[in-house]
Amino acid sequence: MEKQMNAAVLHRFGGPEEFRMEQVPLPEIAANEVLIKLQYSAVSSWDVFEREGGYAEMLGLEPSFPYILGSEGAGTVEAIGKDVDGFKKGDSVYTASFLNANGGTYAEYAAVGAQYVSLIPKSLGMREASAILGVGLTALRGLEDVLNLQKGGTILILGASGGVGHMAVQLAKMMGAEVIAVASGDDGIDLVQQLGIEKVVNGRSANALEQIKALVPNGIDNALFTAGGKLAQDLLELVRNEGRVAYPNGVQLDVNTAANLKVSAYNGEPEGEIIARLNHYIESKALTVHIAKEFQLEEIQAAHEALADHYSGKLIVGIDHE
Ligand SMILES: NC(=O)c1ccc[n+]([C@@H]2O[C@H](COP(=O)([O-])OP(=O)(O)OC[C@H]3O[C@@H](n4cnc5c(N)ncnc54)[C@H](OP(=O)(O)O)[C@@H]3O)[C@@H](O)[C@H]2O)c1
Repeated sequence: MEKQMNAAVLHRFGGPEEFRMEQVPLPEIAANEVLIKLQYSAVSSWDVFEREGGYAEMLGLEPSFPYILGSEGAGTVEAIGKDVDGFKKGDSVYTASFLNANGGTYAEYAAVGAQYVSLIPKSLGMREASAILGVGLTALRGLEDVLNLQKGGTILILGASGGVGHMAVQLAKMMGAEVIAVASGDDGIDLVQQLGIEKVVNGRSANALEQIKALVPNGIDNALFTAGGKLAQDLLELVRNEGRVAYPNGVQLDVNTAANLKVSAYNGEPEGEIIARLNHYIESKALTVHIAKEFQLEEIQAAHEALADHYSGKLIVGIDHE
């Protein structure tokens, strides 16, 4: 008989109320895939757009239901495709892949292309590992590949206490840049200060723009926006002529007013090369992720409702196996 697993599934795209806990067949692994027995899955900001069917419509995909969300997680290797080297059963691994047609990580098991799977560095617990890759590589892609941030450079990071943002402030500091962080709320300020950043402003306060201007009286050369809105639009004006601005696709930003700037929208693109680069920062420089709240997989509806509220860092679900 086909082996079954518990999964949080959708039978159609929509709101958090569409999730159902069901028994579904374990995904079959292809020759180049690894079957992971998941202990944790990240619940990520972009999962909302996927849950609503946004990516399927935007990319012209024809998804099959029941549909399993979840692009990041951590667990142990359960089985290995015949063309895969470098893993053995029981290895602790973490993964980030996107729109996996074989099913996502809101489940007991996921079959993932081996290029998206890594051994968890010793410095990182499995819980943290489940949530670090997607936001970490998006931050790294923005700083190193898009902005080409240099040692001694100055960067303004908006959304600094969010998923991508709190990775970006750490990475930018590790690269030797001076960081001006715009976080959200008192908890956001605390988190960013704990990560070693001194220049932090609460972007949700009434006089945020004035506070930021006071920190950068001569403007700024680089900016990473992980949030849009009025403050983001105003902050564009603080970027010096020919300065660089990067934002991951998904952030709503009107860049028509920024003709004198080098503005780039980009994607994190989880591929082996950047995952290896991120692993280097995790292993040698102690890059860390903040888990704001852990739910159980059965509470996925509440976890998705929490995505719409304020939190700092990341949300995850724990996955029990009977
Ligand atoms: N294209 C890609 O490959 C890719 C990959 C990853 C992420 N993304 C996109 O990148 C964006 C960020 O992702 P994420 O996972 O980091 O989301 P997130 O965890 O929600 O982070 C965004 C942060 O910005 C904060 N924020 C909003 N307005 C602010 C303001 N005026 N001042 C200070 N902070 C403010 C939010 O705080 P509040 O709690 O106050 O709202 C939140 O902490 C999303 O749009 C996502 O879709 C794209």
